[in-house]
Amino acid sequence: MGNIVLETKDLCKTYIVDKMSNNVLQNVNFKVEEGELISVMGPSGSGKSTLLYTISGMDSATAGQVIFDGEDISAKNEKELSKIRLLKMGFVFQQMYMMKKLCIMDNIVLPGYQAKQEPREEINKKAEELMRRLGIIETAEREITEVSGGQLQRACLCRALINNPKVLFADEPTGALNSKASMEVINELSNVNKAGTTILMVTHSERVASISDRVIYLEDGNIMGEIKLGKMEDMQELHQRERKLKNWLAEMGW
Ligand SMILES: Nc1ncnc2c1ncn2[C@@H]1O[C@H](COP(=O)(O)OP(=O)(O)O)[C@@H](O)[C@H]1O
Ligand SMILES: [Mg+2]
Repeated sequence: MGNIVLETKDLCKTYIVDKMSNNVLQNVNFKVEEGELISVMGPSGSGKSTLLYTISGMDSATAGQVIFDGEDISAKNEKELSKIRLLKMGFVFQQMYMMKKLCIMDNIVLPGYQAKQEPREEINKKAEELMRRLGIIETAEREITEVSGGQLQRACLCRALINNPKVLFADEPTGALNSKASMEVINELSNVNKAGTTILMVTHSERVASISDRVIYLEDGNIMGEIKLGKMEDMQELHQRERKLKNWLAEMGW
């Protein structure tokens, strides 16, 4: 086993709405090794987003623990959590939360400037490297309304990577994209993972999940099973992996 970068221990989350309690996560236990690319799948409402938010400290757990990079983050206060999120976690969402008043480049460097770990010149250089790697360098000076959906999502990925996070969290990263743009984004996610970043993502798409080393199936806040697909060496393997995943999901009642 490699290094465990993330672990949940009997993680529970209960929402109380109108005095009714909804046990959205029920004793969730799993481990993520450094360098893994994991997808969480499951029906709508099964608790996938809640799992991501609770693990990343954006929402608090009702019971249980989350150990992230050797620290029990369930015991941290909001100030400590935001520092951990800024320095050690990256986020990509379906709705792309970019600052409308800033151009693409300025959005990407922003978390870097906020982290104050490196001089701004270095952060600018890193942003340019990332944009070049992800094929959007020509969009640097554009407004966020002047780029395509795929380009914008790749810019979000650059922004999420600017502080070299330990783990990248992605919630439906291709949810708002057409199939061509989705393929671009999964190609980049796969490359980012190959370059060493651990990724935990939630997706509805079998195609997108096919790039993962491991897929976890969640239902009513319980992990019902997982399938190991292993590291994808080449995008050529995608269709075969997708078929394998679909067969397994069918067995899970997907
Ligand atoms: N902030 C909230 N307050 C109350 N209930 C919530 C909240 N967020 C999610 N839920 C409920 O938790 C359940 C799981 O939601 P979610 O994690 O978003 O599922 P998924 O991402 O798998 O579609 C749903 O029943 C949803 O209504
Ligand atoms: Mg969700």
